[in-house]
Amino acid sequence: MPHQIAEEKIAQLTQKWLRSPLSAEHPACQFYLTESLTERLHQVTNAFPANSLHTVAIKANPLLAVLRHVRKRGFAVEAASMGEIQLALEAGFAEEQIIFDSPVKTEAELRFALHNGMPVNVDNYHELARIAAIRKNTCQSAIGLRVNPQVGAGSIPTTSVAASYSKFGIPIKEQNEHLLQAFRQYPWLCGVHLHIGSQGCSINQLLQGIDTVLHFLSQWRGTFPELPNQLRFLDIGGGLPVSYQFNETPPNMQEYATQVVQLLEKHQWQHLQLITEFGRYYHVNSGFSISKVEYVKAYTQPQTAMIHLGADYFVRECLNPESWYHEVSVLDNQGVRKLPTPSATYNLAGPLCFAGDIVVRNRELPKMHPEDYVVIHDTGGYTFAMYSRYISRQMPPIVDVDSNGELSLLRPGETAAQTVLFWEGKW
Ligand SMILES: Cc1ncc(COP(=O)(O)O)c(C=O)c1O
Repeated sequence: MPHQIAEEKIAQLTQKWLRSPLSAEHPACQFYLTESLTERLHQVTNAFPANSLHTVAIKANPLLAVLRHVRKRGFAVEAASMGEIQLALEAGFAEEQIIFDSPVKTEAELRFALHNGMPVNVDNYHELARIAAIRKNTCQSAIGLRVNPQVGAGSIPTTSVAASYSKFGIPIKEQNEHLLQAFRQYPWLCGVHLHIGSQGCSINQLLQGIDTVLHFLSQWRGTFPELPNQLRFLDIGGGLPVSYQFNETPPNMQEYATQVVQLLEKHQWQHLQLITEFGRYYHVNSGFSISKVEYVKAYTQPQTAMIHLGADYFVRECLNPESWYHEVSVLDNQGVRKLPTPSATYNLAGPLCFAGDIVVRNRELPKMHPEDYVVIHDTGGYTFAMYSRYISRQMPPIVDVDSNGELSLLRPGETAAQTVLFWEGKW
């Protein structure tokens, strides 16, 4: 089973797009194939024990149409802000299916979550004390505490969150005693939450995080024998890396899940319900972006292809180019894939007004002309989800394929008039 959308399929879909009237209005388009998402959802449910709770991290792809798709297939969601909670409610999730994970929850937000029985993962002691003060005895929310197992950073510093310092959670090594004390003090604290990083952390590193946490829990069991009865869940976060490169074997979900279960058995914590919070795994390989090449500067070194998706769309890729890579293909103005030769070395430059607005650097690509299209692969997660309004460009339409193979809009493209309303504060 290929892990990426096939090049032939991409060319076919681009040809359909070029025949649709929308292509005259929008020089760029995002494709997101819910069929591919469904396949990933199945892979996760099949890999983990049947009683696991799988949440999809909204932050990776907050499209309402996608959230509804996920809900209909029995999944829950992880929400990292009040905005994400509202999106989840709008998509029809029941309150208990929305895990609230923000590291900076206000008291009002906590009251809302607890009053509505949403599970909450607490980030720090102060938040814990706040919950203790406002929580009613009738509260139905399952409450977990986020710990940092301090297993070190992965290959991408900005998305690694379990080094010895992290802004997230409570560091398990220095806070060993205090953490145990927190579980003793608050008998309603019934879960442990960890998340190691997003992309750049190997399966081994993710497993090391879980192993570390379970090891500490087992130690605490010695002095606090009630702990196994108190604890109900282990939330292992997300973070399984995906492949952004053709011809690379991606990490395997089944392999990961099997080893997670083995760790629970090794430490004798099998009774804990596993909760997952994957985002990237479901979304990244389920989408690709296309942009018209508006101009080509053959006289720069490397040559510069000017496209319509820049740092507003590819925030991480532009700000940390050394950490993020996407495969690129080139199609002609009829959507036909160009042959690898003749070729040239290109920068793909976006439309924003700063020098760092370069999505792909120094890449050998088929020779490009204005009106060609570039395809940027594996963009279904953490791209439009991070859309920035700098320079007031419009977010492109997001398109799926229906059961008849026709294009269907998941979200229409933004209009300039809507951008004006945004800056006017009228919505
Ligand atoms: C707490 C938490 N859970 C889950 C995720 C999703 O991670 P990923 O998309 O890599 O699976 C993130 C992403 O940063 C996160 O911060």
